Amino acid sequence: MSENPHVPRDKTAGDKTAGDKTAGEESGLSRKQFITAVGVGALTVPAVVGAAAAAGAASAPPENELLACTPGRTTIAQMEGPYFKPNSPQRDDLTGGVSGTRLVVTGHVFNRACQPLSRVLLDFWQADTMGAYDNTGYRLRGHLYTDANGVYRLTTIVPGLYPGRTRHIHVKLQAPGQPQILTTQLYFPGEPRNNTDTIYDPSLLMNVRTVGSGREATFDFVLNVAGTSSPTPTPTVTPTGGGTWQAGTYYAAGAQVTYGGATYRCLQAHTAAAGWEPPNVPALWQRV
Ligand SMILES: [Fe+2]
Repeated sequence: MSENPHVPRDKTAGDKTAGDKTAGEESGLSRKQFITAVGVGALTVPAVVGAAAAAGAASAPPENELLACTPGRTTIAQMEGPYFKPNSPQRDDLTGGVSGTRLVVTGHVFNRACQPLSRVLLDFWQADTMGAYDNTGYRLRGHLYTDANGVYRLTTIVPGLYPGRTRHIHVKLQAPGQPQILTTQLYFPGEPRNNTDTIYDPSLLMNVRTVGSGREATFDFVLNVAGTSSPTPTPTVTPTGGGTWQAGTYYAAGAQVTYGGATYRCLQAHTAAAGWEPPNVPALWQRV
């Protein structure tokens, strides 16, 4: 069964389908409505217990395809399109009952100061391999939360194409206690239609790599949420600094290391692990 394509007209017209009442409503969706949309009291339920370390290890991007949080530079908003549906189930795996190339998307959600935000609600929806959205049920729809380290992890499939659009995933984000909702879309590098889709924006490209028969992607969101002046939790271990980065070493926020001839400052306290070398994880290390 095919869907009506939401063919882009321009960046402000919205990818509406005639008669679809959900189109273009993203700017008018209040926080209360959004929370309600994904489940009453959603922000008070226990956090998704994500293996932050595992997610981080799995999401280390190739060195030449880095994403970084730049203070003050927030993730841009994009149109909602006609296929958002409220009340998606809370789940971090959308692959049940669908076929397709497995895709794991991981990353952080930061505030404007590049501090990780926990308990951020992310509501995803996307097309199946045939380019169709499930508008009667909730196939390939779901919401989840960032963990205590601001990390999210979604398991899904690579979406298919449909007329007028390049390959993309829709998402809405809302930080706890914040009224504003970021509605945007994520894109895949190397897609021929990226050049012709007028909605596409390269700042929303994920890092995507092939792992076995599946794909792993990373994307860090930056929400228009003010940073906090409250310090990060006081480290219980004396900061390590001045040495060469080494796996297995605990680094407190502010610690400095050298790696590959460059100096990096630790942004978040953590114990270093293979794959978390400073150039790979801009969420943990900032070059100085
Ligand atoms: Fe879409």
